[in-house]
Amino acid sequence: MVTRPRVYITRRIPQEALHIVARHCDFEVWDRDEPVDPAVLAEKIREVDGLLTLLTDAVTEDLLARARRLRVIAQMAVGYDNIDVEAATRRGIVVTNTPGVLTESTADLAFALLLAAARQLPQAERSLREGRWTTWRPMEFTGQDVHGAVLGIIGLGRIGAAVARRAAGFGMQVIYYSRSRKLDLEAALGCRYVDLPTLLGEADFVSIHCPLTPETHHLIGEPELRRMKPTAVLINTARGAIVDEAALVRALREGWIWAAGLDVYHREPLPADHPLLGLERVVALPHIGSASIRTRTRMACLAAENLVAVLTGQRPPTPVNWTDPAP
Ligand code: DGY
Repeated sequence: MVTRPRVYITRRIPQEALHIVARHCDFEVWDRDEPVDPAVLAEKIREVDGLLTLLTDAVTEDLLARARRLRVIAQMAVGYDNIDVEAATRRGIVVTNTPGVLTESTADLAFALLLAAARQLPQAERSLREGRWTTWRPMEFTGQDVHGAVLGIIGLGRIGAAVARRAAGFGMQVIYYSRSRKLDLEAALGCRYVDLPTLLGEADFVSIHCPLTPETHHLIGEPELRRMKPTAVLINTARGAIVDEAALVRALREGWIWAAGLDVYHREPLPADHPLLGLERVVALPHIGSASIRTRTRMACLAAENLVAVLTGQRPPTPVNWTDPAP
């Protein structure tokens, strides 16, 4: 009898994805809506061939050292900064992620956050709900115009480019800074490459779309925030640690920049007493960039397909560290 691969899934995920796994593997799920207990994961990793992980799981070198037969870590997210990919690669473990399927939903959310922060939409809604709308006031909740403004995109990958496409509909002028120039996108989207200091100085809106790596950790700190316009709005839907949060709090308190729209934080979940939440010009969301029903289901299914592909000897659709076997 052929033994089926064993898999551990670190959270409840959509049924469609479980069906994909069930066709080829025996699996167990951490059947709660909270992150898996690290002690449980440390036990499970010893006995499984595959893990399906979320961005809330710390897959460290120490954890990987406990694995005896692990062949694949299939992350249900495009970002994988929670996984020590180098350590996994050294052990011959394939890491996969879920790019592509979440691009448009995340770009929608980034643009929603941009509009919400620019026009203070949550603040205005709160005021109405709390009975503070007593009359029409000429300058109440006046914000920054989005149409015709300059949008600076940091990281012109899939999501950055999708945000640039949305900006065109608002008549925005798009400039970008990326590790490498994207001449094809410059032509297709009509955007202009600039260096980071120029982008920060010229943009009315700065939107971050690069991955978190040692190079991008605190890419936006005090000097960068001081370079931005006092009317500028910072949008971050990528990873919290790309921005120095303490510097951002000072920037908003002291008026170096005008507002921030944030979906990601250094420490998640963001504690309710965090200084950012005491600032009126911050629009803060709980990491929901990709959170549409269709997209989250597609992410879970893609993670399941990646997992099954490796465990059945195929090339996974979206690997992070795959090397083709020698011919
Ligand atoms: C990701 O995929 O990395 C997002 O942060 C969650 O969708």
